[in-house]
Amino acid sequence: MAALKLVGLSGSLRRASHNSALLRSVQQRLAPGKLLDTPIDATLDILDYREVPLYNDDIERPASVQALDQALRDADGVILATPEYNYGVPGVLKNAIDWASRPAYKSAFYQKPVGIMGASPGAIGTARAQGQLKQVLLGMASQVFPYPEFNLGQAGQRFKDGELTDPTTLEFLDKYLLEFTSWVARVRSGEENP
Ligand SMILES: Cc1cc2nc3c(=O)[nH]c(=O)nc-3n(C[C@H](O)[C@H](O)[C@H](O)COP(=O)(O)O)c2cc1C
Repeated sequence: MAALKLVGLSGSLRRASHNSALLRSVQQRLAPGKLLDTPIDATLDILDYREVPLYNDDIERPASVQALDQALRDADGVILATPEYNYGVPGVLKNAIDWASRPAYKSAFYQKPVGIMGASPGAIGTARAQGQLKQVLLGMASQVFPYPEFNLGQAGQRFKDGELTDPTTLEFLDKYLLEFTSWVARVRSGEENP
């Protein structure tokens, strides 16, 4: 079986983002010569969508949106790593998703396997934002990775110099990735389609 092509979107655009750092850890753990020995090979490409404009149905899809859309369509699975802003999904991420959600039920997200993770300094590690994201994904008829959930609280203590260093979190990340990659493979092979 060819290696799974995964793409990641961070819900934070800031340079020192914990959520972007989380995606970089995923990338490192899956990379060839990888730290994590998964039965199913996978790579993660982190998508840069900072050029994507605010959604406006009056404008033609710019190149930044077309590139985002194509990368999502070409992927076997998606990982969304998001902070929580005011109990919800950050606008930048929702805006990118809205662009990629068209045409409805023929979009890049339609039946796409999607995993969610999130890091925040608070205690419940983006649980509310993740709940909202699940509802959004349901609206696009995506396949949502159900379990385990990845809610990383007290994020400030888990990263050092822009890298996830906390051993317990890394252990859990490996468990998540083992489950996620095998689930994506099952969904892609039709074993786990509704
Ligand atoms: C506008 C705004 C709203 C926020 N609201 C929440 C919130 O509702 N819950 C929470 O846990 N953290 C909240 N935070 C704190 C973020 O979780 C924190 O800034 C986090 O580090 C952002 O993720 P990042 O490190 O990936 O940029 C908020 C931050 C901002 C800027």
